[in-house]
Amino acid sequence: MENPARTAEHLARLDQRREALRARLGGVLAPAPRFVWEIGCGHGHFLTAYALAHPAVSCIGIDIVRERIERAERKRERARLPNLHFLLAEAGMFLEVLPVNARPTDIFVLFPDPWPKQRHHKHRILQADFLARVAQRAGQGTRLYFRTDHAPYFQAVREVLQVHPNWRMVEENWPFEELTVFQARAPAYQSLIAVSK
Ligand SMILES: C[S@@+](CC[C@H](N)C(=O)[O-])C[C@H]1O[C@@H](n2cnc3c(N)ncnc32)[C@H](O)[C@@H]1O
Repeated sequence: MENPARTAEHLARLDQRREALRARLGGVLAPAPRFVWEIGCGHGHFLTAYALAHPAVSCIGIDIVRERIERAERKRERARLPNLHFLLAEAGMFLEVLPVNARPTDIFVLFPDPWPKQRHHKHRILQADFLARVAQRAGQGTRLYFRTDHAPYFQAVREVLQVHPNWRMVEENWPFEELTVFQARAPAYQSLIAVSK
């Protein structure tokens, strides 16, 4: 049975996290409200290399695992990249608190957790509702770059995008290559690119 005191505590904690993230994001985005967004950046290999190669582009990587964000932050500090930021944040909450003038122009989702069991598919990050929310905040012309070694997840995302009112898939070259931790372990993988309408 639900314990009302614990539920209230949990909701209060979520509110605190939202506020802290909102404050942090405000500072990060002030100089450049357009940014490249990596969801589930892990240890930050990809985005650090990307930010180094694109010094004029603001880059924000998020992950829900503190230890990964701390490692990514250390990489950023070593590389001394003012255009790069790593935040401990969940993707849905990040969207909720994103300032209204801020807009991701490119979104990378690289080797997201595949949640292979049918009953866990609801935990997959790339689903129709989430993509609709992203498109609503991104506006037209934002590119989504998705790569995975899990063929059923790839197929499921393709099917969602094929009929999605806010996205269309495009045949374009992958814009930037840098091995991620999970890519290095994958014997094979597939990639797709979609643009918001
Ligand atoms: C399989 S790992 C891939 C990490 C990295 N992209 C790579 O290719 O090595 C997936 C990452 O997504 C993060 N993650 C899962 N759900 C998330 C969410 N809702 N918001 C942000 N990050 C999330 C996990 O903590 C994990 O670090």
